[in-house]
Amino acid sequence: MSSLLLNKISILNYKNILDKTFNFDSKINCFIGNNGVGKTNILDSIYHLAIGKSSFSISNENNINHDSEFMLLDGVFLINEKKENITCSLKRNETKVLKRNEKVYKKLSNHFGLIPVVLISPYDTNLIIEGSFERRKFMDSIISTYNKTYLQNIITHGKLIKQRNKILKYFNKSTKVDMDSILIYDDQIIKLSKPIHECRKKFINEFMPIVIDKYNKISGKNEKVSLSYKSDLNDNEIADLLKNSFQKDMILQFTSCGIHKDDLIFKISNSSIKRFGSQGQQKSFLISLRFAEFEFLKNNNNISPILLMDDIFDKLDIERVKNIVDLVNSSEFGQLFISDTDKIRIEKVLSSLKNSSKIFEI
Ligand SMILES: Nc1ncnc2c1ncn2[C@@H]1O[C@H](COP(=O)(O)OP(=O)(O)OP(=O)(O)O)[C@@H](O)[C@H]1O
Ligand SMILES: [Mg+2]
Repeated sequence: MSSLLLNKISILNYKNILDKTFNFDSKINCFIGNNGVGKTNILDSIYHLAIGKSSFSISNENNINHDSEFMLLDGVFLINEKKENITCSLKRNETKVLKRNEKVYKKLSNHFGLIPVVLISPYDTNLIIEGSFERRKFMDSIISTYNKTYLQNIITHGKLIKQRNKILKYFNKSTKVDMDSILIYDDQIIKLSKPIHECRKKFINEFMPIVIDKYNKISGKNEKVSLSYKSDLNDNEIADLLKNSFQKDMILQFTSCGIHKDDLIFKISNSSIKRFGSQGQQKSFLISLRFAEFEFLKNNNNISPILLMDDIFDKLDIERVKNIVDLVNSSEFGQLFISDTDKIRIEKVLSSLKNSSKIFEI
């Protein structure tokens, strides 16, 4: 098993964090402070260095402090005891620069997977509530950490669909349909769709039992949860789908079938969690998904991801908090970053975790 640590981070003008440097504990680090002081932003800065972008779907510019012209994140990681200096800098109206040991990455995707990280966040409800895009992103981000070909296939496939949609829009205005160019795109889409579908299917089969196990441990009850993979390709060949839906696609002006429409279906007692799950059940399910992600990444990449837990104890009853602490204690987690508004609660949690820790009051 490889080791991964964030030793130190310096944050300059990242949202409301103007100038802060943290030297971290190798096990548990807690950020404590009132609402709005910047706890989530600090966790996001760690996420940003690990992944190369913010966990929030905002434009890069919005990460720069409103009153500043630039932002800089500078982190010292230790991967198998080897120092890895990752920096991320951005000036207004310029493109972001991500560096590993002073060397600029040509493509952001080249950084992906070097520093696995799992974030459990109160904003996670999007994963359940929002449209299928969020759940595909969830699946893709996990698979991409251990399968670079998959990542490349997804990127290329996305571009092809975009191009195809452009043609569909253009045709709609003109009278003559140039099938030749559509068929060229279809050919490439067909080649990429099958391997992407196979990877996702295999992933769900392996991932599902871990989620169920985590959910049962957190809830402490036998509530039946399930997770399944919905895809046009489960019962059809992509070539047939594209051919049969072509007339429809022309009218809609976009590609209506394919793996870019895939989804994950989450259920509790055979009903949709999104529509029928209670708030506590939804939150427990989200934490289970993230813990499963953690375990999955750890097993597949042979390295313990950095675990960021933003405000996760809030609104959970004592029983569930205890179950989560037990889970963290038993699974061999690596380095942990926790944020909370309640210092007393955190001190209680820390006293039951038999590990070294540091508290940073923000
Ligand atoms: N680009 C920016 N420039 C300046 N301030 C920003 C920027 N983006 C966000 N903020 C500020 O950051 C603050 C929110 O910080 P953050 O969400 O990290 O707080 P928090 O400590 O996690 O609070 P809570 O306990 O409520 O979760 C808000 O006051 C917001 O206005
Ligand atoms: Mg917060």
